Amino acid sequence: MDKILIHGGHPLSGSIKVSGSKNSSLPILAATLLTREPCIVHRVPDLSDTHYMLQILIHLGGQVERASGTVSVTAEKIESIAPYDVVRKMRASVCVLGPLLGRCKEATVSMPGGCVIGDRPIDLHLKGFEALGAAVRVEGGNIKVFAPKLCGAVINLRGKFGPTVLGTDNVMMAAVLAEGTTVVEGAAQEPEVVDLADFLNKMGAKIEGAGTRRLIIEGVKELHGAEHDIIPDRIEAGTFLVAGAICGKGITIKRVTPEHVKAVTNALGNCGFRLEATGDSISVSPNGETKPLELVTEPYPGFPTDMQAQMCALLSTTDGISVITENIFPQRYMHVAELKRMGAHVDLEGPTAVIQGVDHLFGAPVMASDLRASAALVLAGLKADGVTEVSRVYHIDRGYEHLDEKLSELGAHIERVKG
Ligand code: EPU
Repeated sequence: MDKILIHGGHPLSGSIKVSGSKNSSLPILAATLLTREPCIVHRVPDLSDTHYMLQILIHLGGQVERASGTVSVTAEKIESIAPYDVVRKMRASVCVLGPLLGRCKEATVSMPGGCVIGDRPIDLHLKGFEALGAAVRVEGGNIKVFAPKLCGAVINLRGKFGPTVLGTDNVMMAAVLAEGTTVVEGAAQEPEVVDLADFLNKMGAKIEGAGTRRLIIEGVKELHGAEHDIIPDRIEAGTFLVAGAICGKGITIKRVTPEHVKAVTNALGNCGFRLEATGDSISVSPNGETKPLELVTEPYPGFPTDMQAQMCALLSTTDGISVITENIFPQRYMHVAELKRMGAHVDLEGPTAVIQGVDHLFGAPVMASDLRASAALVLAGLKADGVTEVSRVYHIDRGYEHLDEKLSELGAHIERVKG
């Protein structure tokens, strides 16, 4: 297993370009199953998660070609069964359920397990399918959904932790081929949901309201092929902004949509950094004294849970007491024990982390536990004195395209050790 070694304390400068969004690419690739015609998707990041999704599409009968960031998929004839050995590597595989149900009127997909960031139920996805007229059965670890036909309905997808991103995607992908009109209340507003809706509309779907809490989907008989550019990855952009804050002389993040990272730039601004957005670039640089923060993770446009671990790393070395409350995945704190091994002072009280900033972090061998937790450890390593060795780097490779190379371009002393 590869490791990443970071020799901390080297200030970052220069610029990097953000890759296409992982969390847009996964449902958009799944959506190509909705038509027999070829679809072309540009700026698909080269990540193990996008690779797994392409393997699933191939298993289901799709013809897939990939040339650098461009993927073409033709799903002329497809199967509707995705077994455990195909889907187990990635929880987001669950987003093939909607398109399979929409096109084949049945789907059997192995049930996703929990994961290290906590329980990850899919009850809201299934509630949406049932409202469209599908029957749902759980048999032998698989979820089977089937319907003689799908009919438009009014569906409220808001759960006790707020809206669901992949649940909204899944219901939208099934409803585009339902008879009649579907209204989704409590829809997720994340930019990735809007990107999927844009792609589906290019395929001939009739979806209105993407980016608001209410979607109106007028079912159509069939969809056709389409070509699409994936939006920039706002979480990768946010992670680099925090890298610039934690250890930068001044860096510029290019090919980003500033609106999509507003919660992060606002937080960094409140923490005392200088942020400047011009067109599709954002620069972050030091601006004198830094201040502690109180942060709460929330659905978009609130502060994203996918940036909570990275902010924990930054606030660990920001003077004063910061408080983060994780409202989306209350147990998403696997990075805390590892940050503490590097000298951070963090106390967990349920979903709340109380962080007492320290002057120095120290390099240590640390273990990545999930994607964003791993990113936090790399960020802490950039700041720490000495060498940080991050193992289980495959977590990083799930969601950051060439993270080590991009940080090197900015002047970080970072190397990947093959193992
Ligand atoms: N939830 C339910 N029932 C459901 C679905 C979700 O109770 O049927 C709960 C979840 O347990 C959670 C909340 O609702 O408390 C929100 O979960 P959501 O369904 O929105 O998460 P997701 O769609 O499975 C996506 C991203 C995650 C990101 C979350 C929240 C993808 C592939 N994944 O997951 O990204 O954290 O939205 O924004 O889009 C990551 O990239 O590192 C990552 C984990």
